[in-house]
Amino acid sequence: MKIPFLDLKAQYESIKNEINPAIQEILDNTAFILGKAVSDFEKEFADAHDVKYCSGLSSGTDGNHLALWALGVGPGDEVIIPANTFIATAWGATLCGAKPVFVDCHYRSYNIDPEKVAAAITPRTKAIVAVHLYGQPADLDPLRSIAGQYNLHLVEDCAQAHLSEYKGRKVGGIGEIASFSFYPGKNLGAYGEAGAVTTNSTALDQKFRMMREHGSLQKYNHEIYGHNYRMEGIQGAVLGVKMKHLKRWTEERRRAASLYKNFLEDVKEVILPAEMGYAYHVYHLFVIQVKSGNIEERDRLAKFLNDNGISTGLHYPLPLHLQNCFSDLGYKRGDFPVTERLAESGLSLPMYPELTEQQIKYISEKIKDFYKYEKQIINVMEAAVE
Ligand SMILES: Cc1ncc(COP(=O)(O)O)c(C=O)c1O
Repeated sequence: MKIPFLDLKAQYESIKNEINPAIQEILDNTAFILGKAVSDFEKEFADAHDVKYCSGLSSGTDGNHLALWALGVGPGDEVIIPANTFIATAWGATLCGAKPVFVDCHYRSYNIDPEKVAAAITPRTKAIVAVHLYGQPADLDPLRSIAGQYNLHLVEDCAQAHLSEYKGRKVGGIGEIASFSFYPGKNLGAYGEAGAVTTNSTALDQKFRMMREHGSLQKYNHEIYGHNYRMEGIQGAVLGVKMKHLKRWTEERRRAASLYKNFLEDVKEVILPAEMGYAYHVYHLFVIQVKSGNIEERDRLAKFLNDNGISTGLHYPLPLHLQNCFSDLGYKRGDFPVTERLAESGLSLPMYPELTEQQIKYISEKIKDFYKYEKQIINVMEAAVE
């Protein structure tokens, strides 16, 4: 059986009849940048996340930048960012000329560990970016109280967490600003690059609308600094269609996660992802860990699955503090042990709404076969030594 890591084609086939006319309408109306499809989508997306405003953007990375830029973060400032995230979270700070300051993740949630945040705060700290990684919300209450105590902005990076919930409340409106990505492989994916920022602040929303359009509301009148961060009409149309399916797709992801958990519960050699008590996890990724923490075992497992037709991913194999581009920040291996362990032991299994029970069963069986096979080799080697 061949099981891809992601199957965007299967999803497209299931909604082709709605997508094609929606794109055709954009072509017919030549509504290529922003326009009605984007504003309709913005409204629907904001409503779905119980937040007042949403501005459609060109990407999630641009959303990470715009959020901090609109808050006035600039050179000389520091921004607290989890070491365990995709690099785009850190670009938000660097694009403002600010310094990212990394913090380790919690060993079960894989998100920023609130208990380790205070130690990273200096007089230059301006903001904390809480990333809801893999689809699970970060523990926002303690982060909010730290932000309040030190007078810091709290920004959510929801790139992987559409419709995720923290203590029954949708992410996206809990921090001051949230950024979303609609990269094609995300839970809500465009057919190209797209992103958004959400907020409950009218003033910030107005700022975003100006900043994404060269700092102007009126053509050729540039009130503030800005950039071209506008969402394309075709992406708005695609996202508008997909929004109608997002809730069902999210439930399907949760179904897939619970099937994995059932099939794999007695595999003692792996750690399954936890759904924290405060979380409604939307399983953008299903990341297991080899319990031994041994990178070679993880890589052997990935190869074994690949040899059996199953594609897997690594999220993320090299933590941010060890990336070459941040070598001037002075971090070293050992600084963030939980993140470093996850980088070596984590393996992302296929996860998408269209994944069937039969496929999940097959993947789980192959993981079991791998450990049977490993045990056999150990037995043979031990017998040879005796
Ligand atoms: C956690 C996180 N932040 C930000 C981004 C950036 O989003 P985009 O690829 O839309 O620029 C991504 C996705 O790639 C992400 O996973």
